[in-house]
Amino acid sequence: MIETKHGDYNIHEIALTPEALQPLVELHHQVLPSRAYASEEKKRGLLGELQAALAGRDPLIVAAFTPAGEIVAYKLGYRTGNRRECFYSWLGGVHPFHRRKGLGRALARVQHDWAREQGCLYVETHTWGDNPGMMILNLQEGFVASGSIAAVDRPGTRIIMRKMLQAP
Ligand SMILES: CC(C)(COP(=O)(O)OP(=O)(O)OC[C@H]1O[C@@H](n2cnc3c(N)ncnc32)[C@H](O)[C@@H]1OP(=O)(O)O)[C@@H](O)C(=O)NCCC(=O)NCCS
Repeated sequence: MIETKHGDYNIHEIALTPEALQPLVELHHQVLPSRAYASEEKKRGLLGELQAALAGRDPLIVAAFTPAGEIVAYKLGYRTGNRRECFYSWLGGVHPFHRRKGLGRALARVQHDWAREQGCLYVETHTWGDNPGMMILNLQEGFVASGSIAAVDRPGTRIIMRKMLQAP
């Protein structure tokens, strides 16, 4: 079980249960620009969507909390690939009031260390081309752009980014 600190923030794992995920779902709607495109129905369905997508996939859900216990940042993903050699970093975000304090970087490092320990060869993520903050942070943390996917449901392109976790 992951448990660490970043400054005053406590970082720990979240279980894949509705009770544990609900605060993360609420935070998710506040932080993710793409949620502005989501209908109310889609927003309500996110909890079930997360559970269905992550169940049985060796997921890692980590979050940062204030000393008062309020969730302010999260990052989640799961193992994938033919030989489960990849950790796919799916979603993450930091509450606007708590940005540029190193939380995004701290959660990324926790995630990458965990994936490396699980034996994953690389971590992959898909970053929107109009998201400079995430793109810059990923590049600083050792990702390289390795492809792109045209979006079907909104304008723009997602850049496939990969970071090797160990020598192939
Ligand atoms: C992208 C995001 C996760 C970064 O989180 P954060 O906690 O603010 O990031 P950090 O404080 O760890 O930043 C580390 C470095 O990344 C770079 N960076 C982060 N945000 C940046 C921005 N908006 N513009 C330019 N560079 C940025 C900086 O180099 C920063 O270091 P510095 O603050 O010392 O200059 C956050 O802005 C966010 O939640 N955005 C909305 C949600 C999102 O885009 N999620 C990803 C897609 S699922």
